[in-house]
Amino acid sequence: MIVDFSRTLEQDQHDMIFKETFEVYQKQVEAGIGKWTPPVEERPSTLHRAMRYSMEAGGKRIRPVLLLAGHDLYPSPIDPMPAAVAVECLHTYSLIHDDLPAMDDSDLRRGRPACHVQFDEATAVLAGDALMTYAFSLLSEAYADRPDLAVALIRELSEAAGSRKLIGGQMADIIHEKNDCTAEELDFIHLNKTAALISASLSMGVMLSGQDGENLPLARRVGSNIGLAFQIIDDILDATSTSENLGKIAGQDTINDKNTYVKLHGLDKSRERAREVTTEAVKDCQKMKGDTRFLIALIEWLEHRIN
Ligand code: IPE
Ligand code: IPE
Ligand code: MG
Ligand code: MG
Ligand code: MG
Repeated sequence: MIVDFSRTLEQDQHDMIFKETFEVYQKQVEAGIGKWTPPVEERPSTLHRAMRYSMEAGGKRIRPVLLLAGHDLYPSPIDPMPAAVAVECLHTYSLIHDDLPAMDDSDLRRGRPACHVQFDEATAVLAGDALMTYAFSLLSEAYADRPDLAVALIRELSEAAGSRKLIGGQMADIIHEKNDCTAEELDFIHLNKTAALISASLSMGVMLSGQDGENLPLARRVGSNIGLAFQIIDDILDATSTSENLGKIAGQDTINDKNTYVKLHGLDKSRERAREVTTEAVKDCQKMKGDTRFLIALIEWLEHRIN
């Protein structure tokens, strides 16, 4: 390993604290998933097994961690974990459906055979449907004693997940497959299929801490820029990394002739844009109230992630 002598002890300590905090959040999310996802013993067992198969396959857990970090800017006595699990359920459903033969036709996900390969297509469609609806059931049940909060969370997540955002972005992604699109159309795809849910994850965390003032629109904007950078990096990794490293098929975008940042703008411009959008997110994050140190470190780590 090459030792970087230009780094200061403070930088190394900062990185170590970030990494440890990130791992603590990820472990909490894993425990939350174990607790809140329906048990496999419940009928129909195959369906619940498929849901857990995809939920428990690992993954970076970026969305629930963003939610927890948003909540921790101003920690409140409200438990954010059911909401964190709900956003991961929603995300996992979107991955299960994204991998189906009718969509990206991808056989590998999170280092395992995709849900439709491990089970079958019908089970994968249903497991995705069930995870999506379960996300809202979890929110309505866990926050039933705070109806205003429950409605606000459900509204935030359903808007992000619906036909105007996540699903709309997925539709545009498919429509433009094998057809060129403009830079504006590509940004529409990325902002909706990916950034909308990432933005909602952070804003829901802020809502759970009881802040509905300036921090909430700021959180939405920060989250949206994090999400755009996230999908640009995803496009770059698809073109430059390996299936083993990614836990999903590398080069799948080229196989499917997708419109990606790399295809439209090239690698260098894509990296530049990811940098710009990340800088924008950090600047807005600095305007947020509360202790933003972890969040800023996470935003910067995401730009340099390798999977
Ligand atoms: C993959 O998301 C799908 C995109 C929106 C790019 P992640 O890269 O967060 O996937 P996991 O959850 O870590 O598997
Ligand atoms: C997926 O985008 C976005 C959603 C699942 C909503 P991609 O198709 O680029 O994600 P990967 O690369 O398969 O993870
Ligand atoms: Mg896709
Ligand atoms: Mg895909
Ligand atoms: Mg991709």
